[in-house]
Amino acid sequence: MPIQFRSGECIPLEMHKVRMVQRLNLLPVEDRVKASQEAGNNTFLLKNRDVFLDMLTDSGVNAMSQEQYAAMMCADDSYAGSETFYRLEAAIREVFGNVHFLPAHQGRACENIISQTFVKPGQTAIMNYHFTTTRAHIVRNGGKVAEIVKKEGLKVKSDLPFKGDLDLELLRSEIKAAGAENVAFLRIEAGTNLIGGQPVSVANMREAVKIAKGAGILTVFDASLLSDNLYFIKTREKEFAGKPLGEITLELGSLFDVTYFSARKLGCVRGGGIFTPREDLYNAMLALVPLYEGFITYGGMSVREMEALAVGLRESLDMGVIEQTPMFVEALARELQAAQIPVVTPAGGLGCHVDAMEFCEHLPKEQYRAGALAVAAYIAGGVRGMERGTLSEDRQADGSERIAEMELLRLAVPKRVFTLSQIKYVADRLTWLHENRRLIGGLKFTFEPKILRFFFGRLQPLTDWPQKLAEKFRKDFGESL
Ligand code: F0G
Repeated sequence: MPIQFRSGECIPLEMHKVRMVQRLNLLPVEDRVKASQEAGNNTFLLKNRDVFLDMLTDSGVNAMSQEQYAAMMCADDSYAGSETFYRLEAAIREVFGNVHFLPAHQGRACENIISQTFVKPGQTAIMNYHFTTTRAHIVRNGGKVAEIVKKEGLKVKSDLPFKGDLDLELLRSEIKAAGAENVAFLRIEAGTNLIGGQPVSVANMREAVKIAKGAGILTVFDASLLSDNLYFIKTREKEFAGKPLGEITLELGSLFDVTYFSARKLGCVRGGGIFTPREDLYNAMLALVPLYEGFITYGGMSVREMEALAVGLRESLDMGVIEQTPMFVEALARELQAAQIPVVTPAGGLGCHVDAMEFCEHLPKEQYRAGALAVAAYIAGGVRGMERGTLSEDRQADGSERIAEMELLRLAVPKRVFTLSQIKYVADRLTWLHENRRLIGGLKFTFEPKILRFFFGRLQPLTDWPQKLAEKFRKDFGESL
């Protein structure tokens, strides 16, 4: 809950105290230019010791509670039949209802199992929007992806409270065009990641699932970003204003045939899982768990992480736990907007998304506007963000660029990790960068992998613009880091 100060200003006050800390380094700006070069101007390849605020992702880096750490001490290390598994399974059932649970080591491992089981060559998976690893797994199994997020979802600025909602007319027409038997499944992603962490309403999910089930099509829910999505259901969807989060979650758990999640996000640990109310679907996926992940009672996760996950899932039904990320994202978005910096609105979950399409409109799209902005933000403030644009797309079959619909710099706000003064620092350095945006130049690949090129690709600035940007920083900030 935002707390009101005497001035009337509402502040997203931290409702926890820090009891263990990690020291941070803020390198001088010239060293940041060097570190970026060494990392091939790809923020994924930066060493964390060279990063001040790590806003790459919320994946596996959310703060855990003392109750989660305490639970880790009581893990049962058996290969098969571990008590830890049964405790986690009980937590899943308490939170999501009467389901069968398959553990996996992380979200994409669930996608591997689901895609191998349910995608046949030539089939289409219909979804609000893809996530990088989701599409890669579907395509690897011979499938295609059809995206049917509402048009508004792809607009940077909007008033729509649920920009992740599906266009139901498009859903009907896609099913008709493909033929229901050629649709592998309908997938709905909570907190739609690549369009700016935008939520999906329960009303829209109910309708979409009804249409799919009516056509005999399997429904799949990606609940990785469910915590943020729950916050928005509670605060933006009238029907649920007075409903406990537990009730909403129970409804979602039974709505879909198959639900999976990255526990690196949901539950704040490092792991993942799939669950289904249907025994036949559980049996269809079962054999792949020991094949790829590990025995069915650990699925590639450490038993300690599983214990912490059981606690983390229950904690994700607590508004005091899940509200900090969306409230900080909104605070950052508000400060940036006040400085005329284009950001995705309404502010979503996961992180603040800066619109690089406009921020770097002086650069041709083929020079990777969001990638260049990610480099510039690191130079300007030691802030590590993530490119979510053309660089995150692989090339088309004919070798041409797949120019992304949105060019975003994602500044992730992991759960309960940063303080408000750190968020204000980010806003300050980005405002400076915006004032000096014409100094930002383009990038080109020097090493370009074929699949998921954004992870390991190396790039080079087209001119000496990083040095020029650092010189301007020195001139404006003097000796300040
Ligand atoms: N689905 C969604 C919506 C995700 O955001 C992610 C991961 C995955 C699936 C895959 O899960 O990483 O545990 O294998 N998103 C991370 C991110 C990587 O940075 O946004 P994973």
